[in-house]
Amino acid sequence: MAGKPFHLGWFTNFTADEWTGTFETGGMPWDGKFYVEMAQALERACFDFLMLEDKLAISEAYGGTAEAFLKHAVGMAPKHDPVPLAALIFGATSQIGVVATMSTLGYPPFLLARLCSTMDSIAGGRFGWNIVTSAENLSAQNFGLEKLPARELRYDMAEEYMQCCYGLFDSWEPDAVIRDRVRGIYADHTKVHPVNFEGKYFRSRGPLNTVRSPQGRPTLLQAGGSPKGRAFAAKHADCVICIAEGIEGMKEYRDDILARAAAAGRAPGGVKIMYLIAPVLGESEGEAREKYAKANSGDIFIERSLALISSITDIDFKAYPLDQPLPGHLTTNGEQGTLEKFQQWGSGKTLRQLVVDSSGGTASCIELVGTPDQVAEMMGDAMATIGGDGFLITTPGQVNSRRATLEVTDGLVPALQKRGLMRTSYEQKLLRDRLRAD
Ligand SMILES: Cc1cc2nc3c(=O)[nH]c(=O)nc-3n(C[C@H](O)[C@H](O)[C@H](O)COP(=O)(O)O)c2cc1C
Repeated sequence: MAGKPFHLGWFTNFTADEWTGTFETGGMPWDGKFYVEMAQALERACFDFLMLEDKLAISEAYGGTAEAFLKHAVGMAPKHDPVPLAALIFGATSQIGVVATMSTLGYPPFLLARLCSTMDSIAGGRFGWNIVTSAENLSAQNFGLEKLPARELRYDMAEEYMQCCYGLFDSWEPDAVIRDRVRGIYADHTKVHPVNFEGKYFRSRGPLNTVRSPQGRPTLLQAGGSPKGRAFAAKHADCVICIAEGIEGMKEYRDDILARAAAAGRAPGGVKIMYLIAPVLGESEGEAREKYAKANSGDIFIERSLALISSITDIDFKAYPLDQPLPGHLTTNGEQGTLEKFQQWGSGKTLRQLVVDSSGGTASCIELVGTPDQVAEMMGDAMATIGGDGFLITTPGQVNSRRATLEVTDGLVPALQKRGLMRTSYEQKLLRDRLRAD
């Protein structure tokens, strides 16, 4: 089927490369070059942006120790800071956006606003910030707190944090820099204003000491799942990214976010919603199915997956017997939405079955296994049904390999383009304008 082009983002993190498989990358990704090449491939394929997920601690959620995380290089460790990597990528690309994750728990607002402004200038208006509030006690403890504040409080604080940042981003009027050589004036001081933000949790005098960046403020991404998180996302995000259960769940999420965005006074089309997927691609459907089955079996797969889901939910899944259903409906102060999808409460499935269903702990809103043409068709059908805006693509098991990226950029994307479902060139320079375009 032919349809209207949708948006594509790539979801990854500054973590270890593929080091165990047949097509391992053979090197250390820590100088960032591996990711720079990844971004170049994604730019060739006209992706809207590459998003760098991030966390601020080495998890000990699985079995009360960091062992599984360090052994498998999974979950949160080792993980490097995404912002310098984004700067490297900007130096080696000219179109693709890069979205870095930064937590309202970690950065004082002034530092974050200054960093975003600097990054967006370096990027020529292609920088995005994925707003997170952090969801782990250990992250909170890395910043001197005893434990993570409750979710509701985290969002109350984040709301105030945003108001403070908006004030700082707007502390320079768009035409403050005049660079008047005749009169000898670089910036007009009457157009740079203190902010004097005084909140319950944050205070900042301002103004920023960086010039206003091309986008004014970075493109904002957010992935709220709880009612309060969804309200926050609908109010602030240019692009909401989500993990939902199947077509029904995706549609419910979209309708809810759009209703909340309208209630918050947002203009129609101002908020885009993109769904996390992890397609499994092969030369034939049989090959893709075989690949899927192989990737989702074995003891290492089980341990890796349980460790990953433990780190995301801050729940110790090592404590539960593998071949029995979970003892009750679990809740968390961490990522409840991901937990809900994982635990399939009421299904009666054993923990082992839940792990297999979750495809290596990497949630995919819908199962997409097949040839590039088959998967492109399924993606088009999903968007036609949901009326959605696009997808955030990751690899099954969150494995960073060149092969997995190329299967998408040089296999799936051409199949989408053939159907008119994906653009073939970049039109807008600023990331926000690109996302706003239909
Ligand atoms: C696609 C996606 C990406 C996310 N990336 C991050 C991330 O990089 N760092 C982080 O701490 N949380 C991340 N989260 C968690 C969200 O910020 C959010 O906390 C989660 O969806 C649960 O929603 P809630 O906070 O409303 O409970 C991500 C969630 C999703 C669905």
